[in-house]
Amino acid sequence: MDERTKGRLTKDGIRIFDPEDFAGMRGAGALAARILDDIAPLVEPGQTTGAIDAAITKMVDDAGATSATIGYKGYQHASCISVNHVVCHGIPGDKRLKDGDILNVDVTVIVDGWYGDTSRMYVAGKLSRKAERLIQVTHDALFKGIEAVKPGNTFGDIGYAIQSFVEAERMGVVRDFCGHGLGRVFHAPPNVLHYGRPGTGATLEPGMFFTIEPMVNLGRPETKVLADEWTAVTRDKSLSAQFEHSVGVTEDGVELFTLSPGGKFHPTWG
Ligand code: MF3
Ligand code: CO
Ligand code: CO
Repeated sequence: MDERTKGRLTKDGIRIFDPEDFAGMRGAGALAARILDDIAPLVEPGQTTGAIDAAITKMVDDAGATSATIGYKGYQHASCISVNHVVCHGIPGDKRLKDGDILNVDVTVIVDGWYGDTSRMYVAGKLSRKAERLIQVTHDALFKGIEAVKPGNTFGDIGYAIQSFVEAERMGVVRDFCGHGLGRVFHAPPNVLHYGRPGTGATLEPGMFFTIEPMVNLGRPETKVLADEWTAVTRDKSLSAQFEHSVGVTEDGVELFTLSPGGKFHPTWG
């Protein structure tokens, strides 16, 4: 039998995992989070995003794990690294980081068949005041969403918590990309929107696993994808930030699978 199709689906097609499946997600989430901790010293002016990605490839390998992104729809790297006005899916390469650049590093690993997906923000050199504010608001927006995760709430409650918080800060929530269910696959129902109306969408139940990964722009929310067919940028060239956790719904709330073992998720350091 295919392990990936075990168990129950809700009427919205969302998989309900068993209590013992949380252990699998903890293992995968912990490795992804530890890798994001361990690359922190590499993020500095003059460094290339390709070198950071190469270090991530080696860390995944050394852990005896598998990268979920290498070979995914033709993607060839162990991370997405999205610098400044890149919203997401930035391709690591030989461009050097400059003082003041902000970047999201997004890593997904497979451990014992389970997927751990997390991203956070870094800065090369000195953080500007406006970038610091963007990063703080984006981080706090993710946690507004996480606070809405409990049985009986809906996915619309999560989106609403994020959108209302971000828009009160006069920033833009990206609509073109969303979080996703995951587990023994990378992307599964539902689409976890980072905007929405309270009480709408599927109802949260214990045993659901998904990501929340809001992208926030200092300017307008609109994005476009470059000719490489991956890199998404803000249409108005404004700075963009993102944080991502993989979470599970518990009987009374939420478990974060991708907490930083070193407490480094935020604020940015280095
Ligand atoms: N990790 C990303 C996410 O949060 C997906 C990256 S897919 C890739 O869903 F192919 F671009 F790596
Ligand atoms: Co994700
Ligand atoms: Co991700």
